[in-house]
Amino acid sequence: MTPKPPNPSRLEANQAPGSTPPSAVTLTRPDDWHLHVRDGDVLNTVVPHTAAQFGRAIIMPNLKPPITTAAQAVAYAGRIRAAVPKPVHGGVTFEPLMTLYLTDNLPPDEVKRAKDAGVVALKLYPAGATTNSDAGVTDVRKTYKTLEAMQREGLLLLVHGEVTAPEVDLFDREAVFIDTQLIPLRRDLPELKIVFEHITTRQAAQYVRDADRFTAATVTAHHLLYNRNAIFTGGVRPHYYCLPVLKRETHRLALVKAVTSGSAKFFLGTDSAPHPAHLKEHASGCAGCYTAHAAMEMYAEAFDNAHALDKLEAFASFNGADFYGLPRNAGTITLTRERWMPPESFAFGEAQLKPLRSGEALPWRLA
Ligand code: DOR
Ligand code: ZN
Repeated sequence: MTPKPPNPSRLEANQAPGSTPPSAVTLTRPDDWHLHVRDGDVLNTVVPHTAAQFGRAIIMPNLKPPITTAAQAVAYAGRIRAAVPKPVHGGVTFEPLMTLYLTDNLPPDEVKRAKDAGVVALKLYPAGATTNSDAGVTDVRKTYKTLEAMQREGLLLLVHGEVTAPEVDLFDREAVFIDTQLIPLRRDLPELKIVFEHITTRQAAQYVRDADRFTAATVTAHHLLYNRNAIFTGGVRPHYYCLPVLKRETHRLALVKAVTSGSAKFFLGTDSAPHPAHLKEHASGCAGCYTAHAAMEMYAEAFDNAHALDKLEAFASFNGADFYGLPRNAGTITLTRERWMPPESFAFGEAQLKPLRSGEALPWRLA
């Protein structure tokens, strides 16, 4: 007798290792809690990719010049909404959630204006840590008045957690940040909600796991799928270069364990970061992996590899909304186990955008 094909249902995701793998997973519509979409023409390329998968996304403010006022955030949100495809059958919508870029002198009274305008968080970039971070914070103590206003108003602080001191090894920058910056900050502002963004190390996963309820973390799909070998296999592979940089396999395993542990402190943030291909394939290539075209597919692959597809929905669709104090989305998405080939590249203004895994088959597909 031929075995019955597996029935694509939610329950099927509850798989023990060794049992028949599920052929589909249906999830409450997820959100992306960390996303770069840039500005101008290219919004029309990247925003539809995210809107096809996610109900909402936290929009990073590291434009040039950065988004530092409520008024700028409102105008930017309008440009993003204009790039969202009109729903074909009604129903599905996408909402950008706006953030401001924290600087040494962002005035505390901008926090109230931001809150009234619907801004949900401020992003802390240590000056010089990453793309467009030169206007970032030189000493976090300079921002305490603003952080106190955020704590009062209930706005979240999103942290790029890496020190920038040149004498610190690139691969240690996140762990050193925890000890020298995050622990004192946490102590001085105990009720400020902090999201430790795109964590990449065992130390960060442990720190967040053991922290109080005001601390959480986002994890990218690429840090769940790859270790630092990916950047160097068969030659330098610039499309795997991002910041914080991919780490050793032990760290990747610690991240997989954290996101599949059932802890509500870890949630989805792609850090999808588009750059023109010629600036990544360059003598000093830009940091950032573009994953928005197949984000949920890559997360499904990572959770499936860990036999933990049953943990994907909380990570992708519940934990972030709950931490931000926002309602969970209505509606669902379905991912099926089906090999497909993502495009080699997308038009990106006058340039090309090469997504991660371009021209390489993916085992899961958004239905
Ligand atoms: O790899 C990265 N790219 N890391 C960041 O922190 C910023 C981002 C970007 O904006 O390109
Ligand atoms: Zn980012």
